[in-house]
Amino acid sequence: MKIVLFGATGMVGQGVLRECLIDPRVSSVLSIGRSATAQRDPKLRQLVHGDLLDFSSIEEQLSGFDACFFCLGVSSAGMLESDYRRVTYDFTLAAAGVLARLNPHMTFIYVSGMGTDSSEQGRTMWARVKGSTENALLRLPFKAAYMFRPGVIVPMHGIKSRTALYRVPYALMGPLLPLLKAVFPNYVTTTERLGRAMIEVAVCGYAKAVLESADINAA
Ligand SMILES: NC(=O)c1ccc[n+]([C@@H]2O[C@H](COP(=O)([O-])OP(=O)(O)OC[C@H]3O[C@@H](n4cnc5c(N)ncnc54)[C@H](OP(=O)(O)O)[C@@H]3O)[C@@H](O)[C@H]2O)c1
Repeated sequence: MKIVLFGATGMVGQGVLRECLIDPRVSSVLSIGRSATAQRDPKLRQLVHGDLLDFSSIEEQLSGFDACFFCLGVSSAGMLESDYRRVTYDFTLAAAGVLARLNPHMTFIYVSGMGTDSSEQGRTMWARVKGSTENALLRLPFKAAYMFRPGVIVPMHGIKSRTALYRVPYALMGPLLPLLKAVFPNYVTTTERLGRAMIEVAVCGYAKAVLESADINAA
């Protein structure tokens, strides 16, 4: 399976990349982002691309893929809706639109988050924007599209979030995370499980298009 990965420098993306590099079902990974990861591997090729709204200059490199794992995203904390929407909706749909056109047999997996608002009408800004992003992705002509909605994600294998908002609580909660996982299995997953679930869902599909933490763990 040939994978395109967005957000490989982030906490979720690092975890997903790790599992892709380990899993023999993944033959290659093309990582696209504004910066490169420090990761080096014969299966990994990195494309640093600054303008995530316009892929025309790299379009010829974007066909022939089986799946896209879209892990790029930001915390909405302190952001205006327009700025958050630009990163969350505009970047995602710009990439997805090109990939759907060039790869009609592609499975697209998007990381949104627990509490995403599919109605797009609720009062929580981030949830509305993630909901409209999910809804727009589900309308694109991919072979299949899956929306992953993790709650708490425990970083494993030395992975750290670039977002202080996530990093600080995880550092403080660190010793309690195994307990949280045991007590709240439906709200907690790990970077490892997330990556493994993406590969599994890309290969075998899943009964639902929207996967909450329990589904991610089950997958
Ligand atoms: N972490 C959690 O506990 C958690 C829980 C539920 C859902 N999620 C969702 O999972 C997704 C990834 O989260 P994460 O924890 O992996 O975040 P992260 O560690 O902060 O990583 C964010 C990734 O997105 C890229 N990115 C952010 N803003 C960008 C911009 N303006 N232009 C280009 N690239 C940009 C970063 O690239 P650079 O390295 O170039 O900055 C990085 O690869 C987000 O959508 C988040 O809402 C996370």
